[in-house]
Amino acid sequence: MNEIEKAKEILNEYNQIHIVNLFDKIDEEKQVELAKQVLNIDFHKMAELYENTKKEIEIKEKTIEPIKYLDKAKLTYEEKQNFDNLGIQAVKNGEYAVVTMAGGQGTRLGHPGPKGTFKLDVYGKGKYLFEILAENLKEANKKYGVTIPWYIMTSRENNEMTKDFLEKNNYFGYDKSYVTLFMQGELPLVNTEGKLLISKDMKIKEASDGNGGTYSSLRSSGALANMKERGVKWVFIGSVDNALLKMVDVTLLGMTIDKNYQIASKTVVKANAHERVGVFCKLNNHPKVIEYTELPEKMAEEVDSNGELKFSESHIMCNLYSIDAIEKISTEPLMYHTAFKKNSYIDEDGKEVIPEEPNSYKFESFIFDAFEFFDDIAILRGTREDDFAPVKNKEGADSPKTAKELYEKFWARQGER
Ligand code: UTP
Repeated sequence: MNEIEKAKEILNEYNQIHIVNLFDKIDEEKQVELAKQVLNIDFHKMAELYENTKKEIEIKEKTIEPIKYLDKAKLTYEEKQNFDNLGIQAVKNGEYAVVTMAGGQGTRLGHPGPKGTFKLDVYGKGKYLFEILAENLKEANKKYGVTIPWYIMTSRENNEMTKDFLEKNNYFGYDKSYVTLFMQGELPLVNTEGKLLISKDMKIKEASDGNGGTYSSLRSSGALANMKERGVKWVFIGSVDNALLKMVDVTLLGMTIDKNYQIASKTVVKANAHERVGVFCKLNNHPKVIEYTELPEKMAEEVDSNGELKFSESHIMCNLYSIDAIEKISTEPLMYHTAFKKNSYIDEDGKEVIPEEPNSYKFESFIFDAFEFFDDIAILRGTREDDFAPVKNKEGADSPKTAKELYEKFWARQGER
């Protein structure tokens, strides 16, 4: 049986007859491509994900407790020195690597192109988000006399554009042999009847599988093996869109080493009880980021004896892992979250349909859902002024305007400009 016949058999088995019919409408070259795509899709998983959309979410018995943390600003001089020395030693030994998640679509920002290619209007002439990240890493390299390997996760959609942009800008002076681009995985979009959508280029329409896809794609792309060859023991994973992200925080690293943790995260305090952010907690004794929608209102407002919110540590995508932790997570399936969205598609008559209402499910896994595979997580509380200037929305909160202000104020404080 050739690949096309094999693909048709699978499609028949999973009741995707409209895609079997699609083979008759496209030329031979496209047929071969489509067959390859079909053979790469896990149809069993897709059928399960679709079935899950019809189920009520099961609420299991839960105990939710606040998470323990250390406040960076309140460490004693000795504690900080101890952590910093441990962290610095690991970086100097070449045991540290950085991953930037840059596979998102940045729909809220609406910038035409990968988010890292967005220019933040700082100091008049502006800086690209990738440039800000490169500068952060170059500063650490200079301080510790190393070149930290930098892995950038892209998506199929933005990989070429990202690569061209970095080439054109000479990787902002970063040693190119230490920069690795790898692509994240994708999953098909499914309509309300469980049928996969067809895209304009007469393929099955797929979309990025969420930032939780980082772990499995680190493995499947070979990036994880490459890190191990380089002797990396600690992996930082951060977002592309935080202009104050500190990718090499030796205090966080040293604290994690000192306390013998596998995973760690830098947090900032929730701005107020009802801020729409995910916060860390212990759920049934395992670390977890609980979405604001899932945290009962009473708990969200609860304060401790110092008058501080009990559930206050916001997840800002500033996470650290031992290489063994990445090994472990990259083979464990993460749960998928379902978003019901508007997605255009090609109908049986070959016409493009642009829906006015949501018509299909997109399945995404989230980076923080892996934390519950561990007994504990080391949390270091940072500050918004030093650590968090997100570029999410076009205007208003977490926009280029707020990020620019935070960025310029931070650097003014450093006496740099
Ligand atoms: P967000 O969840 O904020 O998504 O990503 P986004 O794509 O930047 O923006 P919206 O929601 O479409 O407006 C947080 C981080 O995770 C990365 C993003 O690039 C960003 O660094 N991400 C997100 C991925 O790498 N892949 C994904 O599939 C989703």
